[in-house]
Amino acid sequence: MDFYEVVKKRRSFRVYKPDMPEKEKLNRILEAARLAPTWANLQGVNYIIVKKPENVKAVWKAIEQETKFIEAPIFIIGIISASGSGINKNGEKYYGVDFGICFEHLILAAATEGLATCWIGFFNEEEVKKVLKIPKKYKVMGITPLGYPIKPKGEVKERKPINEIVHYEQF
Ligand SMILES: Cc1cc2nc3c(=O)[nH]c(=O)nc-3n(C[C@H](O)[C@H](O)[C@H](O)COP(=O)(O)O)c2cc1C
Repeated sequence: MDFYEVVKKRRSFRVYKPDMPEKEKLNRILEAARLAPTWANLQGVNYIIVKKPENVKAVWKAIEQETKFIEAPIFIIGIISASGSGINKNGEKYYGVDFGICFEHLILAAATEGLATCWIGFFNEEEVKKVLKIPKKYKVMGITPLGYPIKPKGEVKERKPINEIVHYEQF
């Protein structure tokens, strides 16, 4: 699939088929995340792949949005520590930016493979860390289910018009 087609086709799926995605697809998706650029190439993002049904269930529970995302065969949990990235001239920590780039690589690669995802940013972090035995220094920045989509089909939701968000030369 052409890159622009992938960008148009990707959307957030909240209902999944129980079928397990093929190992090769998962490997290619993780490779796309691995190749993402990061601050000074620090590559601080780590990924926890959860497939065992009892662990998948435990992650649902920890997300605390369990009325959605039920039946997803895989959860991918993305983590990074603040020391796994840089600090800019304004003193702002950049780990969230590194994380976002890596996770979006992963999500777009999944769309290329015909797989569904939904970036989940709202969850009980303490509970997720406990369930997955994640060391204290890491922050859980994002979670996505991974699987074959049931619905919806079609292209991305409506977005702001381009002239509302793009400014040439000056704001
Ligand atoms: C950083 C981030 C966090 C998100 N967190 C959640 C979430 O916790 N639960 C959820 O159902 N969707 C979540 N979403 C999905 C957004 O609601 C969705 O991307 C947006 O409405 C646009 O729809 P689309 O992805 O289908 O184009 C999140 C998306 C992003 C990028």
